[in-house]
Amino acid sequence: MKTIDVCLSPDLMHLYPVSDRVVVVVDILRATSCMVTALAHGVKSIRPFANLEECRAMKAQEYFTAGERNGEKVDGFDFGNSPFEYMNENLRGQKIAFTTTNGTQAIAKSQGAKQIIIGSFLNLSAVVEYLKNGTDNVLVVCAAWKGKVNLEDTLFAGALVERLKDHIKPDCDAPLAAQRLYNLAKKDLVDFLKDSSHVKRLNRLHIHKDIAFCVTPDQYSIVPKLVDGELIA
Ligand code: MLT
Repeated sequence: MKTIDVCLSPDLMHLYPVSDRVVVVVDILRATSCMVTALAHGVKSIRPFANLEECRAMKAQEYFTAGERNGEKVDGFDFGNSPFEYMNENLRGQKIAFTTTNGTQAIAKSQGAKQIIIGSFLNLSAVVEYLKNGTDNVLVVCAAWKGKVNLEDTLFAGALVERLKDHIKPDCDAPLAAQRLYNLAKKDLVDFLKDSSHVKRLNRLHIHKDIAFCVTPDQYSIVPKLVDGELIA
């Protein structure tokens, strides 16, 4: 049987060989939720950047610039990091250069993986089906917050482990811990997350409606993949 493991923070990536694995990068609040939303609404591709200035420079190559630092839109960028900004007809067929505090850093740290895909609650069932049908072992990489473990990404990892339990077996204790946490939380994810650090941070920034949306399962059926440095649906 295939295996699934969970890297709870990108700072732990050195413990996980990825060259033979499919890596699911997850940043529920809010980077990977935005990526899935944008691509599901017809954005042509998203080029993720760890470095803010490299991202900004893509403006000259007819990319829209998008993303945040510490939750706030970057000065001079076209878009921030709310999924609602990407439900935008004007973005259909366009290319976006995207950088975030943690999400795009996690993608950068996953380079070298056999394949990188993007997970969120918004495309949970699509990711489950994709992994079930694949042949490779799985590593879920939680974007976390500046190296520190967070609840929302761990819960998503747990949802994957739970939904895949008859097909893919946990490799170690992190997937088991995530699965058990998810089973405690699943009745009301918003309530379970109410004291979490990034929910508090977003509330301080008056960003409320993104939270409930980002933990809503199965709004979209796409599985974004990284191909030649660009995420495509
Ligand atoms: C990140 O990449 O750290 C997040 O997406 C931050 C945010 O919610 O804007």
